[in-house]
Parts: sequence; C-alpha cells; structure tokens
Amino acid sequence: MMTTGVVPTESAIRAALSKVNDPEIGKPITDLGMVKSIAVNDDASADIGVYLTTSGCPMRTQIVDRVEQAAADVPGVGTVRVELDVMTDEQRTELRKKLRGDRAEPTIPFAQPGSLTRVYAVASGKGGVGKSSVTVNLAAALAARGLSVGVLDADIYGHSVPRMLGSDAKPTQVEKMIMPPISHDIRFISIGQFTDGNTPVTWRGPMLHRALQQFLADVYWGDLDILLLDLPPGTGDVAISIAQLIPGAEILVVTTPQQAAAEVAERAGAIALQTRQKILGVVENMSWMELPDGTRMEPFGSGGGEMVAERLTRAVGSNVELLGQVPLETTLREGGDSGVPVVLSDPESASGSALRAIAEKLAVRRRGLAGMSLGLDTTRHG
Ligand SMILES: Nc1ncnc2c1ncn2[C@@H]1O[C@H](COP(=O)(O)OP(=O)(O)OP(=O)(O)O)[C@@H](O)[C@H]1O
Ligand SMILES: [Mg+2]
Repeated sequence: MMTTGVVPTESAIRAALSKVNDPEIGKPITDLGMVKSIAVNDDASADIGVYLTTSGCPMRTQIVDRVEQAAADVPGVGTVRVELDVMTDEQRTELRKKLRGDRAEPTIPFAQPGSLTRVYAVASGKGGVGKSSVTVNLAAALAARGLSVGVLDADIYGHSVPRMLGSDAKPTQVEKMIMPPISHDIRFISIGQFTDGNTPVTWRGPMLHRALQQFLADVYWGDLDILLLDLPPGTGDVAISIAQLIPGAEILVVTTPQQAAAEVAERAGAIALQTRQKILGVVENMSWMELPDGTRMEPFGSGGGEMVAERLTRAVGSNVELLGQVPLETTLREGGDSGVPVVLSDPESASGSALRAIAEKLAVRRRGLAGMSLGLDTTRHG
C-alpha cells in the first residue's frame, strides 16, 4: 500500500479497530479486550496483536481480514501485520462478565423486565402447514430491514431451520456461552447443531424444558430486536415451557385455509388463554396456487385463516388480526430446500411479497408493555 506522508498514530488505528466487530459476538473488538497491542513502525507499517477467545476460533480468518482492512484504511498506514494470541482463562472470565454481567447463574435475557426484545413463538396445530418456512422467511425479511434477529428452532424433534437457512455451521463456545452461527444475518440455534447428522432426538418433557432453557440462557444472543421461535406442531410441552420461560412471548398462529387445519390451529392459539400469553396474529399459508393463466386454484379450500382469527378474537376478547395470506408456490419450497429464504431469493414472487408484507407489520410493531422505555436507544447496537 502507498503511504501518503501522513504519519499514522496508534490512536488512529485504535479508533479504526473500534469499528471492527467480532463476527460472533457482534461487538467491537476494542470493547471485548481483544486488541492486545498496536505498534506503528518507522516505515509506517503496523503490527497489531489480537487475542482470540479460543485457539480453535473458527472465525480467525475473518477477524484477521477485518483487522487488516480496518488498519490499512487508516491514512498513512503501510503494511499491516496481525499476530494472533489466545485469551487466558482470566481474560475470558472478564469477557463473559462484560457480556453477561456478574450473575453466577445464566438467566434468560428475554424474560427480564427491561428486555426490549420482542419474542414471537410460531405455532400451529397440524404439522406441515409451514411454520418453519414462515419463521425463517419472516426472520430473513426482518433482518434485511436492518433489525437484529434471532431464530430458536424449538422443534426439537423435527428441526429444519438450519437447512432452511442454508447453514450446517456448529455453534462455538466462549467460556460457558454458546455463540450461535449466523446465516443471512440471522443468529440461530437448533438442536440439529448439537446432534450427529440426522440422529433422532427422543426427549421427554423435563429434558425438553431444560434444553429450551439452555438455548435461551446459555446462548449469547446479543441485543436482539426480535427472537422468533419455531415451535413443534400441536399444543404440547414446548408451548407450555416457552410460556413459563418467556411469559412475554407472543403467539403467531400458522394455518392453512383448510377447515380441519384451522380448527386445530385454533386450539394451538387458545392455549395462550391458559398461559396468559398474547396472540400476535394469524398467518394463512398455502392459501392458493396461481395457475399459468392467472386464475387462482385453492387446493386446501378457503377461509381457514379468517376463521381462526375470528374465533381467537372472540376467545381472547381482543382483536386477533389475520396478518397475511401466503400462496402455495414452488419458489418458496425451493428457497427452503436451497437454504435461501424466498424473501431473499425471489422477493418479488407472490409468496415472497406476502411474507415481506407480514414482516413489515411486525417490524413496525412495538412491544405492548406499558411503562417500558421504548424507542431510540442508540447505545444498543454500539
Ligand atoms: N407456501 C408454500 N408454498 C410451497 N411450499 C410450501 C409452502 N409453505 C410450506 N411449503 C413446503 O411445505 C413443507 C412443509 O413446510 P414447513 O416445514 O415450513 O412446515 P412446518 O409446519 O414447519 O412442518 P412441521 O410441522 O413438520 O415442523 C416444506 O417442504 C415447505 O418447503
Ligand atoms: Mg417445522
């Protein structure tokens, strides 16, 4: 690189490094104690020492690239050399305290009174109605709008989120925190990341509860705007666990237009009455198929979404909205199979547009907790 005659200073480089986020933690490496040393030499080259959290850090190349790039962009800086070191146990403990405070026991951040994260649990009565597809597409659309989004695949038995997000990356561990992989700007955790291949998991209620608790408390989610939970079908243990672990979670009911599916979906929604959770709304999926001549075919009939919304409105005594109808489309299924959600791979398609419109409704929504400090907190994503 050419030098410009400006003498680079160490503090200019430090300032540049303060804009480098650790790829897993999502916070500046300067704040995380990862910058070990900065030295500017007479020939304007710079030597930068960087601490990795663990020696096997899978992100090391990314971190080195980002540091090199940021330092090289400082006017006057010539060659940049990055030397890696690994944090000591004390440094790691320090880091964990910084990220999680001094609490000995991990707590669920989303269950804390001041939490600004909106938690939406995607539920259905019947299986196969498109919960996971809706979850990953809403997540991708919300992330594309600049929100900080996480997905927890709470379908311990039928986990499908990693495939739909196109990533088989495994979480890494820093101290006792689990760092979720990131795909399409979505942080996500699934039991599928902890099992070998397609090994089925057979857990009973208490173990499920414990696993969910761990996923919520031990995973470092960072400051999320929205956490989406992909629930297994039905009204089972997981829904009740979620209600206990995150009482503020709201339920998003997915149904097909079919009457029989809608009746079961209504039951899944009605569980919110018992658990005193709010119902966010209803999404009708597989609503129709557009034929080449532009006409619509309705393989699953019609009216299911409307019916569930109406009945739940009556049951809970406040308006439950039908948030949108998503048509049956090959491109959506292909997006799921290829790991690029349709809202990204084919955003203008009928299903992509429908899902983006639903995401838009969720994006502008605020958590409905009276007295909470909402709005412009500029420190959150620092
Ligand atoms: N609107 C749609 N158009 C085309 N294919 C769809 C649509 N919605 C879902 N699918 C496909 O239907 C199948 C089931 O969808 P998905 O896995 O999202 O449902 P689910 O409710 O999460 O199922 P499970 O109950 O097994 O968890 C998937 O193969 C998915 O790609
Ligand atoms: Mg699913």
